[in-house]
Amino acid sequence: MDPLRSLTRLVRDLRRDVEAARERDPSALGVGRLELLAGWPGIQAVLAHRVAHALHLGGVPVLPRALAYTARALTGIEIHHAAQIGAGLFIDHGSGVVIGETAIIGEGVTLYQGVTLGGTGFETGKRHPTVQDNVTIGSGAKLLGPIEIGHGAKIGANSVVVRDVPPNSTVVGVPGHPVRIDGRRVEGPDTDWIHLPDPVADAMRALSARVAELERMVTELGGTPPASDPENVHPLRSVRGRNPAGG
Ligand SMILES: CC(C)(COP(=O)(O)OP(=O)(O)OC[C@H]1O[C@@H](n2cnc3c(N)ncnc32)[C@H](O)[C@@H]1OP(=O)(O)O)[C@@H](O)C(=O)NCCC(=O)NCCS
Repeated sequence: MDPLRSLTRLVRDLRRDVEAARERDPSALGVGRLELLAGWPGIQAVLAHRVAHALHLGGVPVLPRALAYTARALTGIEIHHAAQIGAGLFIDHGSGVVIGETAIIGEGVTLYQGVTLGGTGFETGKRHPTVQDNVTIGSGAKLLGPIEIGHGAKIGANSVVVRDVPPNSTVVGVPGHPVRIDGRRVEGPDTDWIHLPDPVADAMRALSARVAELERMVTELGGTPPASDPENVHPLRSVRGRNPAGG
């Protein structure tokens, strides 16, 4: 990449990052640029990332990682040097934010403290979220896997999002589910995302009940009673103990 073009872009993006803090943080109103650079860890972390990312694109070894590491030590914000971040990113407060290697963030995005754009632990290649323009992600929200967060979406504080999010929607909860799309409340039978119907389990339960009934009839006719108790469908894996989903 042309170094002059990279530098021009870096400066332009940094200007927009500082402006973003002014626009979106009420406590930054009327604060000068220098004070913002000195006192806002979110701005410092993004600044360090922009430099580290430019060096990474330029093929410079070791230094990008060292810069990201130093920024993390100073600000508590961990941004992988390869993550692609658009202009105008504002990280409010910042501490505990983690942005993974293959994350892609559009323009005008706001993150609060404790946000994770992470992998689930299973994918290789593109394994972190893609966040489109003008998305707001509330404090403590975890966005996991190579999911797509549509432009203008709002993710509620402490949500855990593992599926794509439609544009202009509000997603809250664990697991994250849309409660508003284009400002309108999401209504209808599908609004309960936690207690989803499970037709396979229902069919197995019905079959199991029929087998039990047949066994009872066979026993009544003088046959041998079954050795085990077939009426209950036992889960294949213990509910307690180590969860193979891990991550
Ligand atoms: C999600 C959020 C962005 C609000 O978005 P919105 O589109 O204005 O949505 P509303 O406030 O109308 O809330 C929509 C519904 O989600 C619920 N909701 C909002 N935030 C929620 C959250 N974090 N967790 C669970 N439910 C939440 C509301 O109670 C409301 O429920 P209802 O449908 O029963 O009325 C906001 O609540 C939020 O979490 N912001 C993060 C702010 C933050 O992290 N601040 C840290 C500052 S240090």
